[in-house]
Amino acid sequence: MKKNILVGQSGGPTAVINASLYGVIQEGLSHPDEIGAVYGMINGIEGFLSGHTINLSAELSKEDLELLRLTPAAYLGSCRYKLPENMDASVYPLLFEKFKAMNIGAVFYIGGNDSMDTADKLSRYAAMAKEDIVFIGVPKTIDNDLPVTDHTPGYGSAARYVASTVREIVLDASVYQQPAVTIIELMGRHAGWVTAASALARKFPGDNPLLIYLPESDFDMEAFLNDIEGALKKSTAVVVCVSEGIHDASGRLVCEYSTEAQVDTFGHKMLTGCGKLLESYVRGRFGVKVRSVELNVNQRCSSLISSLTDINEASEAGRFAVRAALEGVTAKMITFEREEGADYSIRFGLTDVSNVCNKEKIFPPHWITGNHNDIGPEFTAYALPLIQGQPQHILEDGLPRYLYRKEQGLLP
Ligand code: F6P
Repeated sequence: MKKNILVGQSGGPTAVINASLYGVIQEGLSHPDEIGAVYGMINGIEGFLSGHTINLSAELSKEDLELLRLTPAAYLGSCRYKLPENMDASVYPLLFEKFKAMNIGAVFYIGGNDSMDTADKLSRYAAMAKEDIVFIGVPKTIDNDLPVTDHTPGYGSAARYVASTVREIVLDASVYQQPAVTIIELMGRHAGWVTAASALARKFPGDNPLLIYLPESDFDMEAFLNDIEGALKKSTAVVVCVSEGIHDASGRLVCEYSTEAQVDTFGHKMLTGCGKLLESYVRGRFGVKVRSVELNVNQRCSSLISSLTDINEASEAGRFAVRAALEGVTAKMITFEREEGADYSIRFGLTDVSNVCNKEKIFPPHWITGNHNDIGPEFTAYALPLIQGQPQHILEDGLPRYLYRKEQGLLP
């Protein structure tokens, strides 16, 4: 009997999470004998619990689907919602009743470490309750911190945005004769992959950014100020890149040194503001012009400077997930395996979602060089293939045309 499929998006958005959604829908539509409708959860598993779904195969036209492929953020909306550890919790039978009422045969969850936890718990409950529904995780995160996979969809685009923008900031920062320090704060929570991408901005050895700090190394304020002093002896324009998650040896986040440190509605510490704080330390010590720039969400939602390689891989991962589900695969996440050889290529693989959920892949410590303030050439070789290719957007009045749900962001 034909079954329907269900797809959700969860966690922080990326420029290509919709490309994976596009892949799931397109592949779903290309198996009319086995798959009925392709449904979407609005606001992930949290919204699904409240009954919010959309029939994507009925509502999206061919043209909509092409727009969706290059639309940033999360078309279905997202959530940061953790299912209970206890498999006896009433939420599980409730969810499965809803799946069965919609005749769902496969669920695809596009997300990062926390979202794989959802896929893991749902597949464990299905096995326990002998429910005939498969669960597949499709990776996404700009943070690139999922274990097992070579990289994650979303990272290549964030890296391309960071490298291009840092290169432009470096040009701007270098126009005056007077000494100046520019501090750029980048995302990535506990992993330095996004910040490391700033090294790709250099046009020649010794070019800015002169200093790069990742959360994988303990941050020491005095050592940092000494580094700045040394850099100001070499260059009038000093550009420094720091991760939002830098912390000292006691584990205290540098952004928490500020009295304005905050916690968000999910109870997560808001990792923002270390650039501003460092700005005041540098100004206080050296009395030079200092500016801090927080690239903030632009890193994950800039579609115009996204990577075509990333977009194509994200959509292929969505397609691969549907084909795997049709073969009966469950409790797995799609992985990217880099092929050997001079030319970059990947093949898709599968790993147990339990290998990924709640785990983080940090930036390799041996790729961090200098006095914990620079990135080695191994990273460039790793990252350059991921940022290749320019997508062609449909422009309207000079602006990119995107697909969005009219009710998105409105109060229910
Ligand atoms: O996980 C991706 C990420 O973009 C992190 O780099 C960042 O710290 C976090 O999400 C921000 O989350 P939110 O969307 O909840 O502000």
